[in-house]
Amino acid sequence: MKIRKAVFPVAGFGTRMLPATKSIPKEMITLVDKPLIQYAVEEAVEAGIEEIIFITGRFKRAIEDHFDKSIELEMALKESNKDKEYEILTKISEMCDFITVRQKEQKGLGHAIYCARDVLGKDPFVVILPDDIIYYRESVTGQLIKKFEEVESPVLAITEVPLNETNKYGIVDVKEKIDSRTFSLKGMVEKPKNNPPSNFAIIGRYVLTYDVLKSIEDCGTTHGEIQLTDAIRRVTESSGSYGYLYDGVRFDCGNKLGYLDATLHFAMNREDLKNDFCKIIKKYC
Ligand code: G1P
Repeated sequence: MKIRKAVFPVAGFGTRMLPATKSIPKEMITLVDKPLIQYAVEEAVEAGIEEIIFITGRFKRAIEDHFDKSIELEMALKESNKDKEYEILTKISEMCDFITVRQKEQKGLGHAIYCARDVLGKDPFVVILPDDIIYYRESVTGQLIKKFEEVESPVLAITEVPLNETNKYGIVDVKEKIDSRTFSLKGMVEKPKNNPPSNFAIIGRYVLTYDVLKSIEDCGTTHGEIQLTDAIRRVTESSGSYGYLYDGVRFDCGNKLGYLDATLHFAMNREDLKNDFCKIIKKYC
């Protein structure tokens, strides 16, 4: 079955990026020349996603506006013969369908995803956490969907992290290594304080099934929140799931250093900017 829908939880306050996020959503902060969220949306569209469901909160209107048509601006660009800009702009709203669902209270990632249940129905779906920006050759969401089509169970993007950072992530418990990138899982823990089951962390890309959505319903809380990790663990214990070591470089753009790292990486990989940007950087080192 073709996976058509992706859920983007974007209701968070972005406190780690204050004061930049006082009046603009953290997802709208610019990385080189596009808002962060556009990178994740493009990754989803490249993977064949046709419908994106933003789980938003108050003060997040700018995200909806960015992916909406901007008739006045498009007309102004057309009249002044700015064809290239016109094309870039019209493409944004035409990439796919965008739906917005409000998360009225912030009760955790599991709760955010559960807010999309009526739109998702019973089909498998993708979850993308847009703080995790990934530089890739092939859409990481696309890599996970391919794996899902093969294993027909939930697939989670994973990466190795230093042991002393396992308390910042969902950490998977591996059952068996299937191939160089694929691991069958027997469990997972959200931000373990001690004794992590491995040093493979869950990164913000998932392909999930209706079972996971249903499991969120009566999940309880961990660290005071309804956790997506707990719901996936329950499904894993009954019918299995997989971790996939994706091909790509991930940046945590929800914090300042991760964001700066991403800025350098993305700019240095742009043919139109690389040489001049390199000269600028050399002034500082
Ligand atoms: C969320 C998930 C966590 C995952 C992380 C990846 O945590 O709950 O399992 O490892 O994203 O970025 P957050 O960073 O939102 O607290």
